[in-house]
Amino acid sequence: MIAADTEDLPLLANLAHSGETLRNHRAVDSAAPAIPEYLRLNYWWAYIHPAAVKLFERGWLVDLILWGNYRQLSTAALAALGATLDGPTLQVACVYGDLTPRLSERVGHDGGTLDVVDIVPIQLENLRKKLPAATAVRMLKQDSTDLDLPDAAYDQALLFFLLHEQPAAIRRRTVREALRVVKPGGRVVIVDFGRPKWWHPLRYSWLPLISCLEPFAAEMWRCPNGLALPPETEHHQIRRLFFGGMFQMVTLTRH
Ligand SMILES: C[S@@+](CC[C@H](N)C(=O)[O-])C[C@H]1O[C@@H](n2cnc3c(N)ncnc32)[C@H](O)[C@@H]1O
Repeated sequence: MIAADTEDLPLLANLAHSGETLRNHRAVDSAAPAIPEYLRLNYWWAYIHPAAVKLFERGWLVDLILWGNYRQLSTAALAALGATLDGPTLQVACVYGDLTPRLSERVGHDGGTLDVVDIVPIQLENLRKKLPAATAVRMLKQDSTDLDLPDAAYDQALLFFLLHEQPAAIRRRTVREALRVVKPGGRVVIVDFGRPKWWHPLRYSWLPLISCLEPFAAEMWRCPNGLALPPETEHHQIRRLFFGGMFQMVTLTRH
């Protein structure tokens, strides 16, 4: 938890309510979960600074970062979650682009719901702007490693390019939390980087660059399945590779 100076508290409370983020990237509300250190230190430029949202919220740029695979990967994630969301679905962490608006259009009228959690208020605010004013999507400021959600509450959960941004121990906690909140038989769909095949040219040229920008992504490339998921999930994974293994979709089923 990041401590707030006493004189900052009224300002912090106001910002927390208005969904804005402090310029110095500190926690917005002493009662709410704080922005984790790995995120403040390594990703302030991508998710926390107000200019980040203006810069990155462009479909073509997101697609460029994913080497032209955004449409294919987001469509695969949507297909894995189902043409219609007939029960409760959770998306863990906001994403730039139109994935969540497309997902929200699939919410069924008969018991379907969509909740999206994120720890950065400006990201939830940005998502709100991408959804229709009358949306039923719930946006919750929560930490993926400590979800304030009941056990077995969701049919399924989606983690889209979140895990590669987290240190290994945090990543495992995020996956365990997602599994906790889905029902037995429910699924956690993960789309993220994988380990490119040995012949993939980007395996050798992209890694040094991404290591500078995304320190934990490189760590994932070094482990055999690329994700370092909790060992107990090993036998309940279905894996599909994209773009020569550089991206993958892993579906975990809660037993
Ligand atoms: C899903 S990831 C990467 C998305 C991908 N680069 C894109 O936009 O397509 C980025 C999001 O994860 C959120 N995030 C990171 N760590 C988190 C955590 N511990 N709890 C909740 N949200 C988190 C960030 O605030 C950010 O909005």
